[in-house]
Amino acid sequence: MAARVPVQVSPPEVAASVRALTRRFGDRTVLDDLDLEIARGEFVALLGRSGSGKSTLLRALAGLDDEVEGGLAVGESVAVAFQEPRLVPWKRVRANVALGLARGDARARAEAALAEVGLTERADAWPLTLSGGEAQRASLARALVREPGLLLLDEPFSALDALTRITMHRLVLELWSAHRPAVLLVTHDVDEALLLADRVLVLDEGRIAHETAISLPRPRHRDHPDLVSLRTTLLAALGVSPEGTA
Ligand SMILES: Nc1ncnc2c1ncn2[C@@H]1O[C@H](COP(=O)(O)OP(=O)(O)OP(=O)(O)O)[C@@H](O)[C@H]1O
Ligand SMILES: [Mg+2]
Repeated sequence: MAARVPVQVSPPEVAASVRALTRRFGDRTVLDDLDLEIARGEFVALLGRSGSGKSTLLRALAGLDDEVEGGLAVGESVAVAFQEPRLVPWKRVRANVALGLARGDARARAEAALAEVGLTERADAWPLTLSGGEAQRASLARALVREPGLLLLDEPFSALDALTRITMHRLVLELWSAHRPAVLLVTHDVDEALLLADRVLVLDEGRIAHETAISLPRPRHRDHPDLVSLRTTLLAALGVSPEGTA
């Protein structure tokens, strides 16, 4: 068995660096000698079929998996937001955001983060009384309050309705412009990837099988001719025809 390699600290210009990363579950190889580098401040979207290993890669980058093999270096601070917001139900929203921060100015920092995501009014609410969009904003505030150099987002908007999702896209872009973390956003939504990312990756057979850089300025319109043609390319890389038939 190969030696386990602990997560290293990456050089300052690189937010994450992955070399020959392999993850096996029993005799199944889900990540297979995968290489990936994310620059500081870069917004990367990761597409791939269900079960292709996207969450497995994110968990490895978040340092949540000590059974990966290969080289892994990330900046000093990494934050994750998952598809389901995972708020602690018996703590109010403010306390959820402040969770794990050193005392002192934790409350003020949590309130500043809540203001940034437009949730000041809900700081004293219980998580279970939040709407789906509000809960996801609280989850983003909790990730941002740590001022991460690398923000890992695992399908954070997939459970939201289409209108809320558009609002969240704007919010994420605003937050990204203001704080400039590198972002790795896992999504099933090709349009989401095209509207938000500097670079779109497709994970297949355990590796980055396809990648596309997008230099269009934001905000982007989904009907922009460049995006229309990139959409076709990405759908083909995912094994889907533009009409949606596999
Ligand atoms: N702890 C585990 N034990 C065994 N198999 C696992 C474990 N975690 C993930 N897998 C398997 O690894 C594969 C990749 O899982 P992963 O959750 O990374 O996929 P994904 O690309 O995130 O899929 P989805 O788009 O459905 O979220 C799947 O086949 C899954 O069953
Ligand atoms: Mg997943």
